[in-house]
Amino acid sequence: MITNIAPQTSAVTNSRPMRPHWAEIIEIEAEAPGIATYWLRFLDPALSKGYIFQPGQFNMLYLPGYGESAISISSDPENRELIGHTIRYTGNVTQNISRLKVGDVIGVRGPFGTYWPLEQAKGSDIIISTGGIGLPPLRPLLYYVAHHREEFGRVVLLYGARTPKDLQYTDEYDSWEKAGIETMITVDRGDESWKGQVGVVPILFYRMRMDPKKTFVLTCGPEIMIRFVVFEALARRVPSDQIFVSLERNMKCGLGQCGHCQIGPYFVCKDGPIFSFAQLEPYYNVEEL
Ligand SMILES: Cc1cc2nc3c(=O)[nH]c(=O)nc-3n(C[C@H](O)[C@H](O)[C@H](O)COP(=O)(O)OP(=O)(O)OC[C@H]3O[C@@H](n4cnc5c(N)ncnc54)[C@H](O)[C@@H]3O)c2cc1C
Ligand code: FES
Repeated sequence: MITNIAPQTSAVTNSRPMRPHWAEIIEIEAEAPGIATYWLRFLDPALSKGYIFQPGQFNMLYLPGYGESAISISSDPENRELIGHTIRYTGNVTQNISRLKVGDVIGVRGPFGTYWPLEQAKGSDIIISTGGIGLPPLRPLLYYVAHHREEFGRVVLLYGARTPKDLQYTDEYDSWEKAGIETMITVDRGDESWKGQVGVVPILFYRMRMDPKKTFVLTCGPEIMIRFVVFEALARRVPSDQIFVSLERNMKCGLGQCGHCQIGPYFVCKDGPIFSFAQLEPYYNVEEL
């Protein structure tokens, strides 16, 4: 069976999906070199109250004079007051966002896109496998699991970064562990203070046992990491409709019209960004690894 997660939108913000809604930057939290979380509050209190998103969805953040960028929502879906976006400063829009200060305003369109399959995964084990800027779209899911821990079996987070300094949300790992999320962390290169695992994320699969039939694998991060994670999951016989991937493509129109984000018959902006591997299998070769 191919699991399809229909995109879901917030009725309040998406009645006119092309129109940005203004939000104030309430706090800017440095996460790692070149990465920070922007905590936003809509200027219109009705929007703050009515804004609903699902873990894994993204917003288009709009900076007048520069343009828009797709940025995942990285905050707790049950906190309506502030919406978090963890941004890596890469190019035109995001470098200019890095010049904004607390109190400045930014345009927000969304939420857009498909989301992690929490309903399907209820009662099952979940392995969350992520690296680098792939963690922010999974953090809302970690919050959800922490609030509703009894709904799931074993939940394991496998997370990696290039160096210890590049690890994000370091002050939250203890709370995830306390909430019953087994947290395994690795870095590509350690430093003198690092006592943990060294190596790329997919090697963490070799340090754990799993029951593939009752396991969902959720992954987001650099494309090469995703390919190896999918490869390791398939090698352990996790069914392809229980492997979910969040894909990043360079977006232009965001409306399924320009073809910039196309993979096979799908548009990442419109049909994704989260797909089951069963959907992608014919177009996304991991056999060649
Ligand atoms: C669904 C989705 C969710 C995302 N979530 C986040 C997030 O939570 N945090 C975050 O920091 N970034 C996220 N991104 C990536 C982000 O949208 C791009 O890095 C962003 O477009 C950069 O905008 P810019 O104007 O600063 O850079 P640009 O000037 O547009 O581009 C800088 C360079 O990056 C390339 N590029 C732009 N967009 C992408 C992309 N999507 N994938 C690969 N290369 C790209 C360009 O070709 C160029 O070489 C997400 C992307 C998608 C599609
Ligand atoms: S961004 Fe244009 S089709 Fe997806």
